[in-house]
Amino acid sequence: ESPEKIFKYAILGGGVSAGYAAREFRRQGLKRGELAIVSREAAAPYERPALSKAYLFQKRPSRLPDFHVCVGSGGQRLRREWYRENGISLFLNTEIVRADLASKTLTTANGRTIKYQILIIGTGSTVLKLSDFGVEENVKNIFYLREISDADKLIEAIKTKRKGKAVIVGGGYIGLEVAAAMRINNFDVTMVYPEKWCLPRLFTPKIASFYENYYDKKGVKIVKGTTVIGFNANSSNGEVKEVRLKDGKVLQADIVVAGVGARPLTSLFKGQVEEEKGGIKTDGFFRTSVSDVYAVGDVAAFPLKMCNEMRRLEHVDHARKSAEQAVRDIKASENGELIEEYDYLPYFYSRVFDLSWKFYGENVGDTVIFGDYNPLSKEPKFGTYWIHKGKIKGVFLEGGNAEESEAIAKVARAQPSAGNLEELAKEGLSFALKM
Ligand code: FDA
Ligand code: NAD
Repeated sequence: ESPEKIFKYAILGGGVSAGYAAREFRRQGLKRGELAIVSREAAAPYERPALSKAYLFQKRPSRLPDFHVCVGSGGQRLRREWYRENGISLFLNTEIVRADLASKTLTTANGRTIKYQILIIGTGSTVLKLSDFGVEENVKNIFYLREISDADKLIEAIKTKRKGKAVIVGGGYIGLEVAAAMRINNFDVTMVYPEKWCLPRLFTPKIASFYENYYDKKGVKIVKGTTVIGFNANSSNGEVKEVRLKDGKVLQADIVVAGVGARPLTSLFKGQVEEEKGGIKTDGFFRTSVSDVYAVGDVAAFPLKMCNEMRRLEHVDHARKSAEQAVRDIKASENGELIEEYDYLPYFYSRVFDLSWKFYGENVGDTVIFGDYNPLSKEPKFGTYWIHKGKIKGVFLEGGNAEESEAIAKVARAQPSAGNLEELAKEGLSFALKM
């Protein structure tokens, strides 16, 4: 009998970070049979951001294999065959229910074990549910969005409830992107969120008011400063009919989509590894407190060097780069070499309707705004600088081209002195383009 197979490397999770890690292993030199990727999902790693954007479109929707990694950053698409061709064992539809870091063993829901020498944890996040906030979900047609299977269920409902009423709960990333997608699908859309303005994690009231006005112009209704407390069902089929709000309002609905936040998936490792900020604590090489175990993407709480602070980021650019950094460190260690510590410039973006924004750096301190904030303009283009202790720390830009995006990234990285703020406001984007 042959001895039990031990993979040299295993990645737990088959999302964005897993795909980019696989490509980096391949670049650095990987022998057949060395790497295993274990994913609960049915599809090979793909660019998750597509799910709340083009995947939901009515006309020419994006479908796999179009958006497998690594197309999101302009790279080659890694289809399922790519893993086979490169001798990578891709275990799909395979949920890990136990991870024993001491014996380096993963156990699947079917009781199969997978052994490894080095583990990369890339389990990502799971959605928070309205029931996590004490709201009873006793009706049909409430949807969440995290994986392809979730998006497919929503698309089925979009088809059966054509031109119906959609209530979107949450004013964060998912709320804004899905509200736009539902409107593009000709739904009558109402957004509901508890805050005074949308995406308060990043947007200033000024930035938010542009998007809120733009949504209004597109026919999306927004109910702010209140939240959902319950649902009324259609008595004949149990489907949602009404959404009850805390302020006493009742909204008609055929479909409810909730985007009320995410939670990193760390439960398999509780008590086995040090945690921080709700995630798994790592160093600047994404090594955890347990030797031979790395954590990347949404689950990693890592030192953000430029701020000298521990951070956890739930964004795709960091998922890609942290995965590559971990693999580089693994390979360098094998060769007795050292690599540079992760020195990340936070980068977030979104696309809705005909709009597209990018943000780099940190949103701390005072703000200076520039450009055309008029939601009725044909091509609105505006931005914001964040200034802390006299230095520009973060830059937001709506409607920029590639060159302008590069310029604002450069500013956020270099953190130049802001000088006279009135001057800066007048100069606007040209300040960045001069850098
Ligand atoms: P990711 O979630 O990609 O992958 C985790 C994988 O692990 C999943 O396949 C999961 O099934 C699997 N898994 C978990 N536990 C498991 C277990 N026990 N056994 C087996 N498999 C397991 N960001 C951004 O910057 N711009 C954007 O536009 C968007 N848009 C966007 C849209 C939507 C709908 C979502 C949900 C998220 C975004 N994001 C985003 C966020 C971005 O997608 C996210 O930060 C990355 O996908 C994180 O990558 P990870 O690899 O960490 O997790
Ligand atoms: P989020 O944290 O961006 O927004 C959550 C929102 O939920 C809050 O802004 C609030 O409006 C709302 N909320 C919170 N508690 C509530 C309550 N009790 N009742 C009603 N509403 C409540 O999270 P999300 O939008 O759900 O996104 C999930 C994950 O996906 C995050 O990790 C996010 O970063 C990621 N994502 C990112 C992008 C992007 O970067 N463009 C796009 C989609 C998703």
